[in-house]
Amino acid sequence: MTQHNKEKLSSARLTQPTNAFVEEFTASVQFDKILAKYDIQGSIAHAKMLLRAEILTEQECSEIVHGLNAVMTEIETGLFEWSIAQEDVHMNIEARLTQLIGTAGKKLHTGRSRNDQVATDIRLYLRDQIDLICAEIKRLQSGLLDLAEREAATIMPGFTHLQVAQPVTFGHHLMAWFEMLGRDYERFIDCKKRVNIMPLGAAALAGTSYPIDRHYTAELMAFDRPAANSLDAVSDRDFAIEFCAAGALMMTHLSRFSEELVLWSSAQFAFIELPDAFCTGSSIMPQKKNPDVPELVRGKTGRVNGHLISLLTLMKGQPLAYNKDNQEDKEPLFDTVKTLQGSLRAFADMVPNIQAQPENMLKAAQQGFATATDLADYLVRKGIPFRDAHEVVGNAVALGVKTERDLSELSLEELRGFSEQIGEDVFEALSLEGSVASRDHIGGTAPKQVLEAIKLARKAL
Ligand code: ARG
Repeated sequence: MTQHNKEKLSSARLTQPTNAFVEEFTASVQFDKILAKYDIQGSIAHAKMLLRAEILTEQECSEIVHGLNAVMTEIETGLFEWSIAQEDVHMNIEARLTQLIGTAGKKLHTGRSRNDQVATDIRLYLRDQIDLICAEIKRLQSGLLDLAEREAATIMPGFTHLQVAQPVTFGHHLMAWFEMLGRDYERFIDCKKRVNIMPLGAAALAGTSYPIDRHYTAELMAFDRPAANSLDAVSDRDFAIEFCAAGALMMTHLSRFSEELVLWSSAQFAFIELPDAFCTGSSIMPQKKNPDVPELVRGKTGRVNGHLISLLTLMKGQPLAYNKDNQEDKEPLFDTVKTLQGSLRAFADMVPNIQAQPENMLKAAQQGFATATDLADYLVRKGIPFRDAHEVVGNAVALGVKTERDLSELSLEELRGFSEQIGEDVFEALSLEGSVASRDHIGGTAPKQVLEAIKLARKAL
């Protein structure tokens, strides 16, 4: 009979030992042991508060703190023996503490419950993970800035419907990703405000009859404040859901970025060369260089979206307050954290080493009549209403399509055949350089504006 079963038999309501499979089925230590560091941090704060409230003596508190530190060392050095019979990280640590220090260990759980304990642990954990994620987002953003600066004047086709639309600069395109990541960063920072609230003191659900000082424990753990309602504190996991939602959006951005990297690095586009260290070969086709990292990140977006749905579904039917359902919050949350951190790390390492292929980008921009809008704008400047200009350009494009030439390759006479207003200066408007340079306003693609945007971004970063 396991330790756990012995305890169960002494429980007032249970006369039968737990079914061996159920013991394993209901345990969470297999995955929640990664919370150990936070569980110990929370327990140390709790013990110090109990001392202040004169619930523990100086001697007991000191034994507990030393004992918990010793347990932490055992865990870090791999000497700790995790036991399914002790169900979860909280009971494993408490049991070992009592083994090490005796009676004082049994007093640690005074005035708290695993319900407020686990909610506190997850929040401490998530707060740390958000900091790591935010630092990685910034590292990726900074890599994007370096690449964008190098390629501020590199011309590429801009697309709508994946068809050549208008020329843009590669730097400008990259800065779009910078912006998206900036919003992801803000979402995590905002989420952290609601993560950093302390459930401890809510006990099982109703609070506790001991004279606890929740402001003191909150201060010890650098929480912004104690949670205002004990039932809410132990039961809601909205902070984790919110984190996964921010994560799903961030992964969606990385997934779209990945899609472009996959397309651009293909022979059909050949806009970029991905660093070899981030690609793999094929076991059968010797010519292959597969963009595995972007493909995997694109794929991993699916699991993060799935975790978000798992947590939403986990929560939706639960009455107040704590229910065992909530034990199922951990694996989706932990896997989301791991996936976000891994994807960001790979991207932050890869992006600064992307090599642009400016000649191919230019060639692609010269196809597809990318400067058709510029010709229309040129005619508008000559006094022609935009709708008429649009029609004139349509005719010119039709001739280009028929004779397989870009607008800039048509002769002045040919162009003048469509409108008398067209003069020699049209070729400046039809050049790709002229086209991008003319979009010279905040948020525009002109190299000058891109460099300005990068400068501001560096300051903000
Ligand atoms: N392992 C549990 C969880 O992850 C800890 C809380 C258990 N509380 C309880 N009343 N059984 O949620």
